[in-house]
Amino acid sequence: MTKIPIKNAAEIELMRGACRVTSQILDELNGFVRAGLSTEEINTFVHKRTLELGAKPATLNYRGYTKSVCTSINDVVCHGVPSPYVILKNGDIINIDVTSIKDGFHGDSSRMYFVGGREACSKAAVELVDVTHEAMHVGIREVAPGKRIGDIGAAIQDFIASTGKNYGIVREYTGHGLGREFHEPPQVIHVGRRGTAEVMKAGMTFTIEPMINAGTYKTELSKVDGWTVRTADGALSAQWEHTVLVTDNGYEILTQSLIQHTA
Ligand code: MF3
Ligand code: CO
Ligand code: CO
Repeated sequence: MTKIPIKNAAEIELMRGACRVTSQILDELNGFVRAGLSTEEINTFVHKRTLELGAKPATLNYRGYTKSVCTSINDVVCHGVPSPYVILKNGDIINIDVTSIKDGFHGDSSRMYFVGGREACSKAAVELVDVTHEAMHVGIREVAPGKRIGDIGAAIQDFIASTGKNYGIVREYTGHGLGREFHEPPQVIHVGRRGTAEVMKAGMTFTIEPMINAGTYKTELSKVDGWTVRTADGALSAQWEHTVLVTDNGYEILTQSLIQHTA
């Protein structure tokens, strides 16, 4: 297993800066997302704001990906590719995943947005989005030095089971370490067993980004663009993502929203 990078105080400060760009853009998207907008327009907005904030979009030209953000609507699990032909409509749920590189470090976070507001979306969609948000925080609350990466997935899995819903937790896509690299060790699986996988140490930085499906956990990769991941059964999917730091006594959410009511 490759070694997990430990960030020193100076590097952590740079991580905070990169993550602040990401969370600020996600905050700004609250006032931007609306019916009639194309996902290409979201891409243009994120690209422009990233540059204005002194950062670069990490996804642009990453492994052949050609956009500055991922926009995943309804049954799209992750890696939805912005397009001028995909138009938001009232009642859609969309995950917008922003990754910024600033001063050589990465910040990675995603949130769900209700097109037309909560009221415009189905009860099932709202419930899925809220449960997924809580699942992310249940995972984050496991983060502390001396605990194991497997504790995170175990807590998320137990929480989803406790809802009594027949939700599927996506297996093929996971959280990840990040810092100077977009994706580095550890891999953070959103299911698992307590006491397994790597031991967390202060100075580690990684994402927790559960994708929860309203049906089967199984996914299908688009043969058309090679990126878009959909639920295998066409059910809705939701995802939330934060970048977290392991501190001496717990964790710090580096991509915390700067406004009160969103998390
Ligand atoms: N931001 C995604 C993540 O959370 C990765 C997107 S990679 C891309 O890890 F190439 F699809 F953009
Ligand atoms: Co990520
Ligand atoms: Co992301």
